[in-house]
Amino acid sequence: MPDRPHRKPHIGGNWKMNLHHQDAAALAGALADRFDAATTDAVDVTVFPAFPYLAAVSSVLCEKGSQIAVGAQDGYAEPNGAFTGEVSMSMLKDVGVRCVLVGHSERRHVIGETDELVNAKLHAALDAGLDVILAVGEKLEQREAGKTDYINTGQLGYGLAGVTDEQMSRITIAYEPVWAIGTGKTATPDDAQKAHVVIRQAVAFMFDQAVADGVRIQYGGSMKPANARDLLDQPDIDGGLIGGASLKADDFAGIVDAAK
Ligand code: 13P
Repeated sequence: MPDRPHRKPHIGGNWKMNLHHQDAAALAGALADRFDAATTDAVDVTVFPAFPYLAAVSSVLCEKGSQIAVGAQDGYAEPNGAFTGEVSMSMLKDVGVRCVLVGHSERRHVIGETDELVNAKLHAALDAGLDVILAVGEKLEQREAGKTDYINTGQLGYGLAGVTDEQMSRITIAYEPVWAIGTGKTATPDDAQKAHVVIRQAVAFMFDQAVADGVRIQYGGSMKPANARDLLDQPDIDGGLIGGASLKADDFAGIVDAAK
């Protein structure tokens, strides 16, 4: 058996539309205190606060000398101009953001973003020098209809259109089955592993085997300290994208510890 390629685990805390200023800053401070350099050397950790607190969270982490990265939950595809309410990638970079999340199911299915927009946002983030997490995942009815792989590889193909091999080193993929998000229902480690294998094969098909071996694929959907180890032990699960459990320092730290 060939050795499992080494991929540094990547754990993201997607705070979604939660935590006001004081709580966001306090959580960032608590995480910075807990995750010493040995931890962030072993695991890439990115937190995704709401837009208004990106700068505050970034400065808390900076003051503490933490290697935890700040990510944005969204960003617009155009560099500037008359786009009321939107925030450009370079503005995000300006306030300390290093990574942008695109294609999250809440943006696809609640806000109504298309694959085309997801792809445009991904390119805008890369062009601005930011890293990207591209999320894909099937809904319950799609899984029940046997379309899990079709949906995931389709979202992947559209999302990664026009990306170069070199740019792939700045992209993490997040597999987030929609039915597992915020529901307490987690994919079994086996089901998640199967979906990750198909996603990695699709990356090999679109790019090459070396790119596929290098790309990190996170699992997201009700990941908690209690189930994190079993999921992260799977050979193709290289991290997690955490919602609810990322809002409490103890829970999030438990998951990061499981990834070490
Ligand atoms: P939960 O961990 O709350 O299920 O959310 C997952 C998610 O959507 C992370 O982006």
